Amino acid sequence: MVSVELREILKILGDFRLEIESLKAKEGEFLTLLGPSGCGKTTTLRIIAGFEKPDRGEVLFNSKVMNEIPPYERNIGIVFQDYALFPHMTVFKNIAFGLELRKLPREEIEKKVRWALKLVGLEGFENRYPEQLSGGQQQRVALARALVIEPEVLLLDEPLSNLDAKIRERLRGEIKRIQKELSITTIYVTHDQEEAMAISDRIAVMNDGRIEQVGKPLELYYTPKTEFVAKFLGLSNIIELEAENGKARLGKLCFNVSKDGKVRIFFRPESVYITEGDFAEIVSYELLPGRIRLRLSIEGKEIIAERFLDELPFKVENMPKKVGVQVKSFALL
Ligand SMILES: Nc1ncnc2c1ncn2[C@@H]1O[C@H](COP(=O)(O)OP(=O)(O)OP(=O)(O)O)[C@@H](O)[C@H]1O
Ligand SMILES: [Mg+2]
Repeated sequence: MVSVELREILKILGDFRLEIESLKAKEGEFLTLLGPSGCGKTTTLRIIAGFEKPDRGEVLFNSKVMNEIPPYERNIGIVFQDYALFPHMTVFKNIAFGLELRKLPREEIEKKVRWALKLVGLEGFENRYPEQLSGGQQQRVALARALVIEPEVLLLDEPLSNLDAKIRERLRGEIKRIQKELSITTIYVTHDQEEAMAISDRIAVMNDGRIEQVGKPLELYYTPKTEFVAKFLGLSNIIELEAENGKARLGKLCFNVSKDGKVRIFFRPESVYITEGDFAEIVSYELLPGRIRLRLSIEGKEIIAERFLDELPFKVENMPKKVGVQVKSFALL
């Protein structure tokens, strides 16, 4: 197994500046680069693959500097967003391509291609052409083609974003299963926070050419270090309060912040519990499948709460104008 590391990377492309002080995918880890369009995810992946040379800094595989090693000698498998299959070749030929380049014996090629087809659940599809496959199936072929060479590093650049929601969910589960089965160090790129949360061991959130925070999915979700990370990963409550004697108060809410002065308190809507009471005004609400999202106002500050319907101390039909609120966990931003 291989670790992949970036050290003090700088890459300037026109007026875009990618600067990564350090980033490391551990052996066998599933690391996701998550961020909005144009933040530098693909550029980072291209630097790891060797398609792009950094202006400064080092790419290391198992602590060995790879900067001068060309892409085809880095032993990586790559899957892109657009399936990029050869249209005039069968599924078998598409998958066998890299093995034929390596001049493996015929029998071995057959064996490996069958192994890869089984891995992605496409046994029996070897004689089809890409145009005879659905988008999801084409992307499975692309995955099989990347895996058949038994790479040490797998790079996936938004491999699911051209597929519809159902297939996307199924395929991401399969990618995760295959990655764990092969324990292959994987760097995955997406701008979809739900996908990143579902699939990753750790996530690096990127913003405008920089990494804002790296951590496990729930760590980032519940204890983001910056407002950008907080907001990018889902709905959030961020309220500014004045703390005194280590406590910040809002209505009957009291946050133990262990410091005084201005504080920015962060919590997720699902950390807000609704109780009977009268210090939070219900401004509006919307029903979601099985759940309810409430917009509340406490002393002029808006708070979003999200609960399962059966957790409310009242029926939706008898919605009161005012309620009580408890916040069960929070972080300081
Ligand atoms: N060859 C180039 N010349 C100039 N600018 C470039 C070049 N390649 C990329 N860029 C710019 O670098 C920035 C980062 O691009 P990159 O493709 O890495 O973003 P991304 O995070 O992958 O975005 P997306 O989610 O849209 O794929 C963008 O602003 C892009 O316009
Ligand atoms: Mg991209």
